[in-house]
Order: sequence, then C-alpha cells, then structure tokens
Amino acid sequence: MRGIPDALVLFSVVTVVTPGFQFRARNASDAAVSKPCSLGEYTAKAQCMQSQYRLVCKDGFASYWIRGIKRDITHLRLQNWPGECFNVARLQYHYPELVLLEFINSTSLKSFKGQFSAMNKIEKLALHGLMALWELTPEIVSDMPALREMDLRGNSLRHIKSPLLTGPRSLERIYFAGNSWDCSDGGLDWLAMENENGTIRRKIVDYDELVCHQQLYRGKPLNKVMDIIRTMRQTCPEPCECTMTHVVSDSAGAVIPLITVDCSNRQLENPPSELPPGTTTLRLEGNKLNTIRAIVHNPQYKKLADLYLDNNSISAVKELEGTEWFSTFRVLSLRGNLLKQIPVYAFDKAFQYNNNIMHVFLGDNPWRCDCHYIPRFQSLLLKYKRVIRDLNDIRCSKSSDKKTSLIQISTIPLGNICGNDDVMPISPINIVNLVLLSLILLVIGRFLYDWQNFKNTGELPWLSSILP
Ligand SMILES: *[C@@H]1O[C@H](CO)[C@@H](O)[C@H](O)[C@H]1NC(C)=O
Ligand SMILES: *[C@@H]1O[C@H](CO)[C@@H](O)[C@H](O)[C@H]1NC(C)=O
Ligand SMILES: *[C@@H]1O[C@H](CO)[C@@H](O)[C@H](O)[C@H]1NC(C)=O
Ligand SMILES: *[C@@H]1O[C@H](CO)[C@@H](O)[C@H](O)[C@H]1NC(C)=O
Repeated sequence: MRGIPDALVLFSVVTVVTPGFQFRARNASDAAVSKPCSLGEYTAKAQCMQSQYRLVCKDGFASYWIRGIKRDITHLRLQNWPGECFNVARLQYHYPELVLLEFINSTSLKSFKGQFSAMNKIEKLALHGLMALWELTPEIVSDMPALREMDLRGNSLRHIKSPLLTGPRSLERIYFAGNSWDCSDGGLDWLAMENENGTIRRKIVDYDELVCHQQLYRGKPLNKVMDIIRTMRQTCPEPCECTMTHVVSDSAGAVIPLITVDCSNRQLENPPSELPPGTTTLRLEGNKLNTIRAIVHNPQYKKLADLYLDNNSISAVKELEGTEWFSTFRVLSLRGNLLKQIPVYAFDKAFQYNNNIMHVFLGDNPWRCDCHYIPRFQSLLLKYKRVIRDLNDIRCSKSSDKKTSLIQISTIPLGNICGNDDVMPISPINIVNLVLLSLILLVIGRFLYDWQNFKNTGELPWLSSILP
C-alpha cells in the first residue's frame, strides 16, 4: 500500500519539473489527429471496383488506387468514407481527369481539407448522406472552373456562405433540399437579402422546398422565413434594432413572425412612427419620452403586445383610457417614470376585460400618497397583485412625512394616510356653497323678522317704504 502514494508523489514531481515534455507530447498528438486526412489512412477494409472510367470505393481507398500514379478515372464515387476529414488536394493529384465526384453515406465525415487546383475538370459534385457535415466551406470549390452543378441534397448542412454559390464561375445549378437549415442564427441572412430574381437565388433550383430545421423555425418553409427576415430588415426603424424572436403558424398555415424592436437607450424623444409588420415587443427603456400619446394613437402599434417604457419621463398615462391597445396588451412596464397617479378606474376596467394581460410594472415612480388617492390605488394593487409584478417597488414619493415617505403602498395602513388628525382640505366649490347657504339663511331670516314686525306693529318693511 505504501508504494502508491510514493508513486503519486513522484509522478506529480515529474509533471511539475518537466512541463516541456507535456507540451511536446500534446503537439505530437495534434499531428496524429490531422494525419487521418491523408487518403491512405483507411486501406485495410477498403474495397474498390472499377468499370472503365468509373471507380466506386467503399470504406476508404484500397492502397492500389492511391499509389503515386495518375489515374484516368472520370467518375469517382466514395461510399462510407470512415474518416472525419477528406483531403481533396491529394485526390486532385491522383485523379486529375475527374468530371464527376460523389460522396455517399459517410456518417463520420465532417470537413474537407485543401482545395481543388485550378486544373481540375470536375463538372458535378454530389454529396449525399453526410450526416456529420454541418457546413461546406466555400474555399473547397472556389477554384473549380468547370463546376456546373452541385447536388448537396440529404446532408446535415445548417448554413452556407454566399461565396459557395458565387465562387465557381460556371456554376448553374445547386440543390439544397433535405438539409438541417438553421434559419435563426444569422448564417443565412445574406440569402434573405438576395433579390428574388437575382442570379444567386435562381441557381438554387429547389429554393422553395427548403425547410428550416433548427430551434425557433423548426419545420417552417425557409423561403417564408427569409421573406420575413428581409421585410423586417427593410422596415426596421432607425436607430433601433429588430430581431425575430419567434415564428408561429396560424390556422391557415401562414407563417406569422413575432418581432422585437429594441430602441432602448437611444436618447429618443418620440417613439418610432413605423414598426415592422408583426412587431409584438417594443423596448423603449431609457429614453426621453414624456408622453404615451404617440404610442396609443398610432395604428402601427395596435398589434403590439409587450411595451417597455422604463426609465423615461412620463408623468401621465390618462391617454390609455378607452384605447383599443389598452384592452388587448400583454405586458406594460412603466417603471422609473414620473407618475404620481394613474386613472384607477380605467386600469381596473382594463385588468378585468383584457384577457391577454400578463404583467404590469409600476415601481419606482413618485406616487401621490393622500387620502383621496391611496384607498382606491391600494385596492387596485391588491385586487390585481397577480398581474402587477413589482408591488415592493410601488412606494409613496419621498417626502418629509415619515408616515408615508417611500412606504410600500400595497401594505400601508390607511389610518396613516386618512388619520383623524388629518385636516380635510376644503375645495373652492365647497366655499362657494357655504357662501350661498349663508346668503339664503340671511334672506329667510330677514323675511321672518319683517313679517313678525308687521304683525306686531303694522309697520311695513323698510324695503317697501322706498319702492315707488
Ligand atoms: C507543433 O509541431 C509543428 C511541427 O511538427 C510546429 O510547426 C508547430 O509550431 C508546433 N506547434 C506548437 C503549438 O508549438
Ligand atoms: C445510403 O443510405 C441510404 C439510407 O441508409 C440507403 O437507402 C442508400 O441505398 C445508401 N446509398 C448507397 C449508395 O449506399
Ligand atoms: C421576379 O420575376 C417574376 C416572374 O418573372 C415577377 O413576377 C416578379 O415580380 C419578379 N420579382 C422581382 C422582385 O423582380
Ligand atoms: C432604469 O434605471 C435604473 C437606475 O438607473 C437601473 O438600475 C435600471 O436597470 C434601469 N432599467 C432599465 C430597464 O434599463
């Protein structure tokens, strides 16, 4: 048992004092990994069959076929290539006469190394069943002057770059169906911006059959998603940023985009007047807006579900009252503005009848805290506490009154605000009423006095003595 710890100690000493050894070892193993990209790596199980100028090889190249001789084969098919990598430069060296090159059913093949030289005569390149091939780098075909057709159907391609189509100068047709296109990561955005009748788009023979496979757009037709991306790019308002967060299909199968327009922290004084069709979320945080009028009255904003207005200078939202948007929205955030009060009745009605509503944020505003407003506001907050998500931050404005300053409104005891010692302020209309009442009492009193006086003394009131 004693030997093991000793060996461990010795081992760790060795690794500490000889870092150079480890380093060299790693470089040597890197070299071993790249070595399989030589054509001669898989000769043991390989089978090759020739008929005239056609050669079919399975599971690698038999060693006879990659000796240092140039072969006059014109059609080469490679099936079940066992490696992760394939060296096309070496292939070119052994098979300079190739016209048709096919790779079939190679589940390990991930990448190609090198490129064909400008001397090659290949007219058609076909790759099928390469289930580990995510991308075909344009470099491999950039120097193929005779290449007319690429058939890339039935692989696992996720994205392509435009030079793959623009590089080979004789390229006429390319087939892309049956791949796992990733329409969401920006790798195909260049394709979205291509003109529908442009030369690149016309080369993709099966463009209308392509299907998006990854993430958000799984199963959606690629051409529809590309159309939506293009429209979004072209209608995105300056200086905002637009992203498609999702696409859904309606009952008729039409693809509907859900777009987020991010205009946050852009020093805006007004919201953008136009939005891409399908905008569902608008972020306007950290700008200089002081009213929401332009938002609720703009027909472009009708479909907007989520509106973030945090950290602006909005002091009133009474414009919301009675608007269509207020009865259909999903998220409204007004945090960090200058709101003192909201139309409580209108909010109550909206919360009651709007079935889409999910979140409303009202925190960090200088809320008015007096007996006229707070009882109604507090009962609204409590009634809809599932919807109003930041009750902790909805507090009275800062003031010298310790009983209310920065106190959370949903839990504030009403006695603190509507206490007995609170002097009820008298409104001007009530002062007018009091004056009128005292005048009426004066007239009635005078009349009673005059009447009594007349009964007792028969004297007419003073007023009748001066009348003509
Ligand atoms: C690995 O070895 C090769 C030559 O065998 C050398 O060119 C290369 O610089 C080495 N890599 C590193 C990281 O030192
Ligand atoms: C490639 O694999 C598919 C499915 O496994 C099979 O149908 C097809 O015949 C194979 N092709 C070749 C040339 O072996
Ligand atoms: C593309 O061509 C078709 C038919 O030739 C035509 O209807 C369509 O308007 C063209 N589109 C553009 C953007 O030029
Ligand atoms: C609003 O401003 C506060 C304080 O400056 C900051 O902490 C918060 O992250 C801002 N909110 C947003 C959504 O930008």
